Amino acid sequence: MRLDKFICESTSHSRVSAKKALHRGDVTCNGEVVKNSGFKVTDEHEIRLEGELLTIIGPRFIMLNKPVDTICSTIDEEYPSVIGLLDVIRPEDLHIAGRLDADTTGLVLITTDGKWSHKITSPKKECGKRYLLETADPLSEDLVGQFTTGLQLNNEDGLTKPAVLELLGTHQARLTITEGKYHQVKRMLAAVGNKVTKLHRESVGAIELDAELELGEWRYLTDAEIKSVK
Ligand code: URA
Repeated sequence: MRLDKFICESTSHSRVSAKKALHRGDVTCNGEVVKNSGFKVTDEHEIRLEGELLTIIGPRFIMLNKPVDTICSTIDEEYPSVIGLLDVIRPEDLHIAGRLDADTTGLVLITTDGKWSHKITSPKKECGKRYLLETADPLSEDLVGQFTTGLQLNNEDGLTKPAVLELLGTHQARLTITEGKYHQVKRMLAAVGNKVTKLHRESVGAIELDAELELGEWRYLTDAEIKSVK
């Protein structure tokens, strides 16, 4: 890899600022100053910028426990973006794999890998998302069958795909869906004349929200978690 590209892929430098750093003599290869941006970096080379050892950042996979009043857009709008909760280099390279509403808490997956996130968000992949929800009005057993059969949402063609509703109490349930339509869970409860008052995502596919993470905290995914998305 060219040295200027190597600097870009291991720091927040742009190609232009990497070239300037090279020109200033801030970059060394195995202890020697290198100014040639086309210099070919190999595994044998130890590259330092102002004395700091550089390594390629590579793809990143993150789980975050989203608090309320944050949004899953990459830019701040009415509320701050969840990306601002991550103290990482080059946050602009990250995107969110499946959004939650501002008032929803729980598991958000964030990555630099578009192919990986597509496997989570594409309806064809039928990746299950499990939610814990509370409602304004009581829930009844007959809803379980209705959610399995599918519901007609406002302004949608056809029924929702089979969803698994598990009643936990008069006003509390777990719901697993494999689609990700806009406000889907809230609209499914609205379709049966109820209203969601609290919503929390517990899992996406085989990835469970880490119970150690407080609201607003995050960690990198393990290799097993990354590979579980197929
Ligand atoms: N469905 C909703 O209605 N809201 C969310 O945040 C996630 C799923």
